[in-house]
Amino acid sequence: MAKTNSTVVPHHVAIVMDGNGRWATRRFLPRIAGHKQGVSALNRCVQACMERGIGVLTVFAFSSENWNRPPEEVSGLMELLGLSLAREVPSLKANGVQLHFVGDRQRLSDKFRAGLTQAEQATEGNQRLVLNVCFNYGGRWDIAQAARKLAAEGQEITEMALDRALALAHVPDPDLVIRTGGELRISNFLLWQAAYSEFHFSDKLWPDFDDAALDEAIAVYRSRERRFGQTSAQLAPESAGDSTMKAA
Ligand code: IPE
Ligand code: IPE
Ligand code: MG
Repeated sequence: MAKTNSTVVPHHVAIVMDGNGRWATRRFLPRIAGHKQGVSALNRCVQACMERGIGVLTVFAFSSENWNRPPEEVSGLMELLGLSLAREVPSLKANGVQLHFVGDRQRLSDKFRAGLTQAEQATEGNQRLVLNVCFNYGGRWDIAQAARKLAAEGQEITEMALDRALALAHVPDPDLVIRTGGELRISNFLLWQAAYSEFHFSDKLWPDFDDAALDEAIAVYRSRERRFGQTSAQLAPESAGDSTMKAA
């Protein structure tokens, strides 16, 4: 019998929260209305992850390439992040969420950067759920910044050293990567860390991603056999043992 994850809850879930724009357009609303609804979906998802015993949630909120969107959408997203921080940090703090912002902060204003640092400091002692918000993040940026850091320190570039220099070094690699919105691509998310993650693509637009959709993703994850390059038989030593005994 092959071993699946049948009884396991993924420890680290990562989500490409895609489909906000389409959600709004279908309702004849401006795209920013979809992003606002996306923040509500994220609040619900954080709660649902805690209820299910998930330890780490990493979400893709703004990619390195999203700067190329129309300026009014970019400024709307920046404003929304600022507002959401002010509104959500107190309850995240009270609920045991440890918040991290992952991404390149250099392009952000001093005020914005200070807001991110303050939110991280306010929640740093929390242990119930680690929430990584990838903002101005790209997998390629992360690998390049990690390599630059090692080079500047004169360190040898090994897999282990790179792993420690990456922006998500404080958490293990994601077990499950979910992308909503129906696209079947990674769009520069967690290029290094998703090497052995299980993938689940949902047609639901992010604002519609509810508890049932999360449960479906977890159920799919549980049905998978993670082999990490090994064979099925190696993962089920008891059945391999049986066949050896029969052969003897
Ligand atoms: C994801 O939703 C949120 C961000 C990229 C900021 P989109 O805005 O990409 O929504 P669609 O894909 O256009 O529907
Ligand atoms: C990925 O979605 C980035 C985020 C969800 C933040 P995009 O909407 O930017 O991805 P593409 O452009 O469709 O690949
Ligand atoms: Mg999109």
